[in-house]
Amino acid sequence: MKRKEINRMKLEFDAISQNEAFARQTLSVFAAGIDPTVEEISDLRVVVSEAVTNAVVHAYKNQGGKITMTAVLYDDRSMKVKIRDTGCGIASIEESMQPLFTTDPSGERGGMGFPIMQAMSHAFKVKSTLGKGTTLYITFKFSE
Ligand SMILES: Nc1ncnc2c1ncn2[C@@H]1O[C@H](COP(=O)(O)OP(=O)(O)OP(=O)(O)O)[C@@H](O)[C@H]1O
Ligand SMILES: [Mg+2]
Repeated sequence: MKRKEINRMKLEFDAISQNEAFARQTLSVFAAGIDPTVEEISDLRVVVSEAVTNAVVHAYKNQGGKITMTAVLYDDRSMKVKIRDTGCGIASIEESMQPLFTTDPSGERGGMGFPIMQAMSHAFKVKSTLGKGTTLYITFKFSE
């Protein structure tokens, strides 16, 4: 049987670091509609924070821009989330997904964002075009 969509939201916000908290709070409240466990909410908060941070610091190089976040809840207790920026894009997705890979010259970043997002979600996909931007497709599956 095909899963049925039960709720959907779309949000656009500025790519500034204050909105990392805004985005993860908003998605937690949205997901609360299907009553995930505390651990599941904690995982999704981490994933959203990493994704939004990447858009703020890498895609837009802290110069600001727009981020859109779309989320859909399904009756099989899954949630699909799409996080999109129209920033600089990623030259090699394969390389950037490797643990410890970072283009950050400051030495402050560990290159663990993508591996963490992958480990804490059910499915994780990145699409990116240089000069046009990046979209993350993330699926969560909450326990019964
Ligand atoms: N939205 C994005 N736009 C452009 N480049 C990105 C984006 N997200 C990630 N990247 C590139 O992929 C690399 C790896 O990202 P990842 O989140 O794994 O590590 P990091 O951000 O460098 O370090 P950490 O997340 O541990 O602080 C980044 O250094 C950056 O070059
Ligand atoms: Mg990161």
